Amino acid sequence: MTKRLSLFMIGLFTFSILLFPQKNTKLSLDPAKAQWFKDAKFGMFVHFGLYSMLQGEYKGTVLTPAVDKVKYPNGQTWYAEWIQMRLDIPSEEYKPLAESFNPVNFDADAWIKEAKNAGMRYFVITSKHHDGYALWDTKVSDFKITNSPFGRDLIAELVTACRKYGLKYGFYYSHWQDWEYPGGAMPNWYPRVPEEEFEKYWQQKSLPQVKELIDMFDPDLLWFDTWDWETHINDKRRDELIALVRANSDKCLINGRISYLNPGENIDFLEMHDNQYPDKILEKPWQTPATMVHSWGWHAKDYNWKSSAEMIGYLVNNVSKGGNYLLNVGPKPDGSFPLPAVRRLREIGAWMVPNSEVVYGSRPVRVESPEGVYLTQKSADGKNYLYVSISKPMDSLTLPLDINNVSACYVLESNRPINYTGGNSNLNIELSKDLFRDCSLQVLKLELASALD
Ligand code: GLC
Repeated sequence: MTKRLSLFMIGLFTFSILLFPQKNTKLSLDPAKAQWFKDAKFGMFVHFGLYSMLQGEYKGTVLTPAVDKVKYPNGQTWYAEWIQMRLDIPSEEYKPLAESFNPVNFDADAWIKEAKNAGMRYFVITSKHHDGYALWDTKVSDFKITNSPFGRDLIAELVTACRKYGLKYGFYYSHWQDWEYPGGAMPNWYPRVPEEEFEKYWQQKSLPQVKELIDMFDPDLLWFDTWDWETHINDKRRDELIALVRANSDKCLINGRISYLNPGENIDFLEMHDNQYPDKILEKPWQTPATMVHSWGWHAKDYNWKSSAEMIGYLVNNVSKGGNYLLNVGPKPDGSFPLPAVRRLREIGAWMVPNSEVVYGSRPVRVESPEGVYLTQKSADGKNYLYVSISKPMDSLTLPLDINNVSACYVLESNRPINYTGGNSNLNIELSKDLFRDCSLQVLKLELASALD
């Protein structure tokens, strides 16, 4: 082959890649790229959209738990972001909410600072939830925030803030359900959308919007949502979407909920069910998406606030099993965070001040521990540390450890020495009552001669 011909061939090849990037069917990703996610441990989730304006109530009907299936035939959860479907609000009434969407008190810096102060290291927001409304200036659809009185690109402002404060960021995107666009899937109590119609939605809205999110914002992760057996997201569409993401981003991670039926081998991290906490160590990176109340989207009459102590317990439990905790806030219609959420975020941040080493840079321990006690460990400066986090009052605690491996035991926050006794395979730790005056998670730090498994 002459030199000129080979240069021509190389040129043609490069040109065809530029022209048809979607033809790249690469699915897998280097697991090292998920390392930041494994290290991050704690993130903020935000559910915000038109549904936030309704606050869990429409025309005098409050979305409340269905009692004996009397109130709603449409399922048991009363998530406020589902209000359109749960209360059968006609599209002609729901869509016009966009004409008055105006979260005037939205402040991207304030949100991201709140997340950072709580100790969160990444941020995920609903770019488009099931109702189909986009929080960015999409060119693919008119159903978007920049056509509302607010007029600003909320996602763009948050991306700028995340970069400023050093948080990784990603987007929830409802690839399957879309209650606005013809052909987008509906919940399982509706007739199934025919394949050809879904395919049109898939090609005309879903895939182009995902590509657009990557092109415009270069996210660190995408959070896809499927939650039912009755789904159009088969293996072929799952792989088509994965290939699209891989072809357009070298770094973007993909979650396992991309396909409820079968996440396959090419996703980057596993997504637990909502508020579910596994009781064993998992090797693949994983996280639990969790709520502070019942609902994800803001619901003014959802009073089920969990305490910060409970949520800190979930965080540390997940870390002790090698996973992450993605904690949700549902902002109010004006774009501000609800005060009960702010208090809890700040309490978690306050707990982090003396205790963050339990969470960051630590790894799981393959040692059995009593219920409500979470173990993490870390090696630093030639020393090995074991952290014993205790979530409920107890008089003493026994761990299957060799006492000869332990050189010190004290309360992490105060350095208060803690007595221990035992033998080759049992370590008995004495716990005095006054430790539990404070109902937050209590952490003991043990110095070990050698690291544990
Ligand atoms: C469920 C809910 C959805 C929410 C998601 C968060 O799939 O149906 O509304 O966004 O969980 O994990």
